Order: sequence, then structure tokens, then C-alpha cells
Amino acid sequence: MPPLTERIPEPELMEAADQAAAYAAADFESANSAFIGHLDTLLGGRPLVGPVLDLGCGPADICLRVARSHPGADIHALDGSEAMLACARERLGAAPELAGRIRLLHDTLPVEMLPARHYELVMSNSLLHHLHQPAVLWDTVRRFGRSGTRVLVMDLFRPDSTEAAAALVRTWSGDEPEVLQRDFYNSLLAAFTPAEVEAQLAGAGLSMLEVRVVSDRHLLVAGQLP
Ligand SMILES: C[S@@+](CC[C@H](N)C(=O)[O-])C[C@H]1O[C@@H](n2cnc3c(N)ncnc32)[C@H](O)[C@@H]1O
Repeated sequence: MPPLTERIPEPELMEAADQAAAYAAADFESANSAFIGHLDTLLGGRPLVGPVLDLGCGPADICLRVARSHPGADIHALDGSEAMLACARERLGAAPELAGRIRLLHDTLPVEMLPARHYELVMSNSLLHHLHQPAVLWDTVRRFGRSGTRVLVMDLFRPDSTEAAAALVRTWSGDEPEVLQRDFYNSLLAAFTPAEVEAQLAGAGLSMLEVRVVSDRHLLVAGQLP
């Protein structure tokens, strides 16, 4: 059982049409509703009002959930993959009452400019493990956050072994298409450990954010900028 002492990076962008379509069609109900639960906890019952940034938005399921529960939020949703944004556009088309508050941005981190100077919330789900230079995520949090900005980043964490990764794939995506199972396995191997994420935050001057393991495969980075 080879130990996974180092990550094995995967391509950053999910650009293949079949890959994006399989991801968009997959059932992420448990992870995505957990993300919204963590957001509720972070907000402590207060409504979100103002611009929200979603980094690596993919098919925009989380954007739609946030837009639905926070009518005062305007969401800027960024992804570098046109194939993923096509899936997002289709999904927004089915929810025209929310789509007006979700603006899709085709861009790749690191970015120089965004539509808002600062955001009330910077959020991201399942982006960090894609990044070859994870500092670009934390730099974006710092540049486009300000005092009081909330930060919520959820991602996979790297299991101890390839066998543990394969077992997670069987448990959580055993019924999903081959392309999705392969992506999930590769993502687990590309993911960071909680200790590695803590080191990234320390390097970025973001040690005020808390890192917690929140499921058998997810870690959460949450907090508020001082
Ligand atoms: C696993 S998907 C997660 C999508 C979505 N956040 C979700 O939870 O369903 C990761 C997304 O991040 C995008 N991505 C990866 N690296 C990126 C980068 N450097 N800049 C912008 N988007 C990136 C990929 O194209 C992909 O759509």
C-alpha cells in the first residue's frame, strides 16, 4: 500500500466536454448541501448582502444554492473552463429568476481584475486541489477581500494511501460513470493534507482562517478577515 506522502497534481482546468458534462450530471447533493450548511454556520444566521465571489464555480450548483437562500447577494462566478461554463449557462437558463444575480466570468487564476473591488464572501468548492500553485487562491482571497470579508473554502484532502483513495471512490462514486470515478481518484491524489493547507495559509498571512476536517474526504477553511 504505497503511502501518499506527496500529492500527484492533475490538470488544472476541466476542459474536456465529456468530463465537464459528467461532472455537471453527477450527484453532489451531500457535499453541496454540506457546503451550504457550513456557510450558514459561518454567517451565524445573518443574510449575505453584496458581491460574492465563487472561484472555480464549475456548473454553478453552489452559486444557485447561495443565490436562492440570500436574495441580497450578487454572485460573480469564475471558471477557466469554457466547457464547465457551458454547463453552468445551461443550469442558469433553467432558473431565470436567479440567473440575473449570477454573473459567469471566463478567467483563470491568478486574475488581475474582477468586477468588484472587494467581496463580502469569497467561496470555493473543490478548486484548491486543482491548483499547481495553491498560493494563487489565497492571494486572490487577500486581494479581493477586506476587513470583515468571510472566507469559505471546501476541498478534498489527500488520503493516506492509494487504497484508501480507491475505497473512497467506491463508496462515493461507485455508481457514477468511469470518467467521473477516474477524476475523483485523481483529485484525491492531487489534494492537500490539512497540515499542508495550514502551511499555505501561514505563508499567505491568513492564519486567522481555521482548517477543519469535516467528512471522510473533505476539509474546510473558514473564517473572517480581520
Ligand atoms: C472540481 S470542479 C468544482 C466545481 C464547483 N466549484 C463545484 O463545487 O461543483 C473545479 C473547477 O475549477 C476550475 N479551475 C481549476 N483551476 C482553475 C484556475 N486556475 N482558474 C479558474 N478555474 C479553475 C475547473 O475548470 C473546474 O471547473
